[in-house]
Amino acid sequence: MSEALYRIVGGHPLHGDVAISGAKNAAMPCLAAAMLTADPCTIHNLPRIRDVTLFLEIMRTLGVRADIAPDGGSVTVYAAGPLGEAPPNHLVANQRASFLVMGPLLAREGRGACAAPGGDVIGQRPLDVHLTGFIRLGAEVSAEGGRFVARARGRLRGSRVVLDYPSVLGTENLLLAAVLAEGRTTIVNAAMEPEVLCLAAMLTRMGARIDGAGAHTITVDGVDRLHGTEHRLIPDRIEAGTFALAAAITGGEVLLQNARPRHMDALLFKLQEMNVEIREEDGGVRVRAARPLAAANIQAVPYPGLATDLQALVVTTLTQANGISVVHERVFENRLQYVGELRKLGAHIVSAGTTAIIQGPTPFRGTVVRGLDIRASAALVLAGLAAEGTTELVDLTHLDRGYECFEEKLRALGAHIERTAIPAGSL
Ligand code: EPU
Repeated sequence: MSEALYRIVGGHPLHGDVAISGAKNAAMPCLAAAMLTADPCTIHNLPRIRDVTLFLEIMRTLGVRADIAPDGGSVTVYAAGPLGEAPPNHLVANQRASFLVMGPLLAREGRGACAAPGGDVIGQRPLDVHLTGFIRLGAEVSAEGGRFVARARGRLRGSRVVLDYPSVLGTENLLLAAVLAEGRTTIVNAAMEPEVLCLAAMLTRMGARIDGAGAHTITVDGVDRLHGTEHRLIPDRIEAGTFALAAAITGGEVLLQNARPRHMDALLFKLQEMNVEIREEDGGVRVRAARPLAAANIQAVPYPGLATDLQALVVTTLTQANGISVVHERVFENRLQYVGELRKLGAHIVSAGTTAIIQGPTPFRGTVVRGLDIRASAALVLAGLAAEGTTELVDLTHLDRGYECFEEKLRALGAHIERTAIPAGSL
């Protein structure tokens, strides 16, 4: 048994081109969509990350076959059926997105069960949006033996569902359930994230009738069956944002290959306010930090506002900006835990509740830090790139869930970063 750490020697501006991978948060809903048909479905631009491996493992426990191409970049899913009843609790405990199996199980088999899923510890993360939606579609939902169980008498029935909150996975789960329901479902206050649109595009290609995905109200006219398809995942806007901020914090210049600027509007707008030059090019987005960074005020909100998944990375970058920045996290109630780690490096940040006040610029000195979730881990890597001396980020489990070849990509841009395996228990 060994775990790994990153050793980062800071002070090297990033320069060059980086290829942005397929989106983690589009991969899982699209894999779940493939469970809605007995025909094979092939998904391209699959990111080679642990969250995808884990989701495929969960699908396999339900009787689904998934053949990954030799280069790992695409997968063909065969869900001939019948599908199993519930994924094992110990797998579900590691991933929030595993609850996405509920929509397809309910739509296809008329029943499904799943334990409350795990994932990043960033707030309460309730499931009421998902469960209320299933109930509105005609399912009975109960808690049995530590699992949520949903059963439908016959086929699900289309309905009008008004979400309490535009939950991303909640909207996706309801779409997955509604496409095979009888009649029309209207989802009001739906999440507008590009990953929802990517899922809807795949479902439409499979024969689903969906209108309005990407807007607040989505209409689904249920069909009797869906067929197989091939689908390409969108580029990961959060990975792209991570590299954009890495360029900004190190004073470098990076071309984010394949990045879609319209998926990153809020971040690109803020970066310009922070004195970072942004140029949209045919091959992607160029980010150039030529002048000292300026402070900025940020609110992390649902799309198309600035993504909560970028909040820790933006705060980290703002520690190197001139002046006082105020950041409000408005999606999750406990997503500022990493601030204590940034303080160890020298940051001047006051945080209370969901607000952080950053006074910059503060020189960072390398030390040992630990990331408690995917994005906080990536933020601490950025901090290490900007720090004087050596920073060690211990425990890469979270980071590996969400970033493909992170250190290789950073090294190709000139970062001094290496992964070291360490014997368990030696820290
Ligand atoms: N919420 C409810 N009721 C629900 C579900 C959510 O009140 O039934 C609330 C949550 O408490 C939270 C807010 O809604 O305050 C947002 O949660 P949401 O359900 O939208 O988040 P999610 O769907 O569980 C996805 C991403 C997260 C990302 C959020 C917000 C995936 C697999 N995960 O989670 O990604 O932070 O949307 O954009 O798509 C990450 O990639 O690092 C990550 C955590």
